[in-house]
Amino acid sequence: MDSMEGATPCGLRIINNMGAWRTWPIVFLIFLFKDALNKDINRSVQLGSAVTAWEGSCAVLSCKILTYRTIANFTWYYNPEYDDAVKTFKGTIVYQSTKNAELNSPFADRVQYVGTDEKNCTILITNLTRQDSGSYQLRLMGKDWKWMSKSMLNLTVSDAGPGLKLHQVPEMQENQKVALTCSIDYDCPFYNMTLTWLQNVNGKEEMIIKKDIGEKRSTTTKLTFVPSWKDNNKMITCLLQRMNGANDNRTIQLDVKYPPKNVTVVIKPDSKQFREGTLVTFECVVNNSNPDVTDFAWRKNKIPLFPFSGKKAIRVEDAGMYTCEATNEIGKSPSDEVFVEVLYPPKSSSCTIPNGTNKREHKEAILKCPSMQSNPKISSYEWFKSRKLYKTTNSDSLYFPNVQWTDSGYYSCKAINTLGSSPEAECAYLRVEYAPKNVSISVSPGNFVTENINVQLTCTASANPNNNLEYTWYHKDQALQKSEKGYVLPNVQMSHAGEYYCVVQNGIGSNKSQVVHLHVSYSTNTIAMYSAAGIGPLIAIIIIVALIVHFGVWQKTCRKTDNDRSDSAFFVLKKKHNEVSDQLEQDAPSEDSLTDRINYASLQFPMSSNGGQNQPRRNPNHPEPNDIYSVVQKPRSAAEYENIDSSKITQDEYQDEIHYSIITNLNKSTARERDPDVEYAMLKH
Ligand SMILES: *[C@@H]1O[C@H](CO)[C@@H](O)[C@H](O)[C@H]1NC(C)=O
Ligand SMILES: *[C@@H]1O[C@H](CO)[C@@H](O)[C@H](O)[C@H]1NC(C)=O
Ligand SMILES: *[C@@H]1O[C@H](CO)[C@@H](O)[C@H](O)[C@H]1NC(C)=O
Ligand SMILES: *[C@@H]1O[C@H](CO)[C@@H](O)[C@H](O)[C@H]1NC(C)=O
Ligand SMILES: *[C@@H]1O[C@H](CO)[C@@H](O)[C@H](O)[C@H]1NC(C)=O
Ligand SMILES: *[C@@H]1O[C@H](CO)[C@@H](O)[C@H](O)[C@H]1NC(C)=O
Ligand SMILES: *[C@@H]1O[C@H](CO)[C@@H](O)[C@H](O)[C@H]1NC(C)=O
Ligand SMILES: *[C@@H]1O[C@H](CO)[C@@H](O)[C@H](O)[C@H]1NC(C)=O
Ligand SMILES: *[C@@H]1O[C@H](CO)[C@@H](O)[C@H](O)[C@H]1NC(C)=O
Repeated sequence: MDSMEGATPCGLRIINNMGAWRTWPIVFLIFLFKDALNKDINRSVQLGSAVTAWEGSCAVLSCKILTYRTIANFTWYYNPEYDDAVKTFKGTIVYQSTKNAELNSPFADRVQYVGTDEKNCTILITNLTRQDSGSYQLRLMGKDWKWMSKSMLNLTVSDAGPGLKLHQVPEMQENQKVALTCSIDYDCPFYNMTLTWLQNVNGKEEMIIKKDIGEKRSTTTKLTFVPSWKDNNKMITCLLQRMNGANDNRTIQLDVKYPPKNVTVVIKPDSKQFREGTLVTFECVVNNSNPDVTDFAWRKNKIPLFPFSGKKAIRVEDAGMYTCEATNEIGKSPSDEVFVEVLYPPKSSSCTIPNGTNKREHKEAILKCPSMQSNPKISSYEWFKSRKLYKTTNSDSLYFPNVQWTDSGYYSCKAINTLGSSPEAECAYLRVEYAPKNVSISVSPGNFVTENINVQLTCTASANPNNNLEYTWYHKDQALQKSEKGYVLPNVQMSHAGEYYCVVQNGIGSNKSQVVHLHVSYSTNTIAMYSAAGIGPLIAIIIIVALIVHFGVWQKTCRKTDNDRSDSAFFVLKKKHNEVSDQLEQDAPSEDSLTDRINYASLQFPMSSNGGQNQPRRNPNHPEPNDIYSVVQKPRSAAEYENIDSSKITQDEYQDEIHYSIITNLNKSTARERDPDVEYAMLKH
């Protein structure tokens, strides 16, 4: 409690000097004045706030005189005490403003006035000791008055000193600027100390020293920085270093919040390509997150997958681009994109034959095995015809630039990649249409027939289409009326003999058969008829001779074919005159060319009338050792012989009337000169 020293201040003396009768109004005025004075004196001094300091350092006791009264001098007291007996304060004097004042106290030489003007009563105490701790008060003195400040300034001198204060930031987030402050409520101009940051956050440091009188004097250092997520959990230290080497520090650990970092899709087994069906595990791995991740979201080709099964036998449709996104309280972070490829053999498809399955021979034809799903790409196609591998192609089509009838068939295809092949895809039946082929004639009972029997000619052909085939028959290049597959010659006659062929036609075209020769011979009845006419014995001899020659001399040279053989009759070959002469006069005719020109005729053996002329003889005009002559004397009654008038035959012409049948070795015939008068005939068996 502040209180007035002595009985009263100056106002009391004013009262003493006045007369008693005039006292009351003045007393009242004085009372008011005193009250104002007391108020003024109560607010006469403003002292600084409490100071804490280390031993050996200094302390500034800031002070300001506020009263408008005239001040004679002032005195700083240490722990002053009011002595009620003498109504005055007693205590250790710290500082007296009177210049030549002698001081004998522990504060001598350690206190100095640092005020800048007469109203400034600030002092500095240096070389502080623990004993300096206590309350300091200021006494003002004027003419006839003293006043001890009501307030006091407490000083604490200790090892701990004022204490470092490092202010933690409530919440730190990535990329949001923060400032850390480290301060100490102390400032001594004669006692050096430093505040520094021990940090590796690349922050900016700034020192602020507050020295306002009446407030806490403080030294503050500020660290400003933009935290990165990597700064989380870092230690930051504010270090105080004092003059005497002692130091103090405060450390905080940063708690930087940030969205999940290093989000990656981890796929096991570690690959990007999987064979269909492989068991694959998808995991979303977050390396760093503060606070912890609360949710994972998966996407495939940017489309959310929900729910997402992280472990599966991979299917073709699982191929794609995967991302996962991790979320925490602060935000969400996507992973990089991971492409997953699924490998599989080509999937099944179909095979088609564009523009119809019927193709014309010699035109082009295409079969298509349309593109199938496959990974890796299809490398080739295998084509099968009737289930047998037919061809391998690089493209998806099988191309026939000139399709053949033999290309008809059931086709199928398979697509191949490095992993395998697709199932077989059936194409339709490829039908190649063609004009008749292999047109041929068969003769029943055979090419060599005797007259009066039924002969059946049949024309066969292979064709596609083979319904509605048109048949046209030709005999000796003359078209016949009937147009059917089979052609019947009922009761065949000599006139039916000759060349036959047929022409077969379908919608595509026509083709011609080989030429077939029909040989018609006289029946045994007819032969018998001629035999009865009388030349039977002669002919019988000829037959015998013919047989001998056949099995003897001719066996080596005579070419026999199945077509030429006839079991039922012998035939005499009658050569046409001029043809034979042409042949013989020129080079030796080949056997083929000879047979080409052969006309067949039946040699008849009429019975001899004289009965003695039919023995073998030689031609007297042209004896030829290799020739065997059979002489058939023309009977005078044999008028049936064509172009021979028997009545004109004279005895001299007898030789001419004899018809020679020559049986000769053909090899040697080439060397023989032809007798122009002889009609040659070849006896064939
Ligand atoms: C008093 O003096 C001190 C020391 O020189 C100074 O820091 C302070 O500002 C002064 N106060 C005023 C009110 O002038
Ligand atoms: C105060 O301390 C300083 C060094 O700390 C010393 O040089 C000086 O003599 C001391 N003064 C007194 C009065 O003790
Ligand atoms: C301070 O001033 C008062 C009034 O003038 C005087 O009585 C006193 O002796 C002075 N004190 C000192 C130490 O000079
Ligand atoms: C100063 O110290 C005294 C005694 O220790 C105490 O009574 C007083 O309240 C203190 N004043 C201040 C401002 O701290
Ligand atoms: C305090 O530090 C300043 C500069 O760092 C220096 O000039 C001064 O001499 C120091 N004072 C003491 C007492 O060490
Ligand atoms: C900080 O202070 C502690 C004791 O409080 C001490 O062990 C540590 O070494 C100090 N650190 C630094 C960097 O001075
Ligand atoms: C996690 O992140 C740290 C750096 O923060 C890095 O060194 C480490 O390799 C990462 N680990 C994985 C699995 O990504
Ligand atoms: C034609 O005949 C030949 C020989 O016999 C045969 O290989 C071929 O398949 C036949 N052609 C047709 C179209 O039937
Ligand atoms: C006629 O048939 C033969 C075989 O039989 C064949 O080689 C030829 O191509 C056919 N002609 C036509 C026009 O089809």
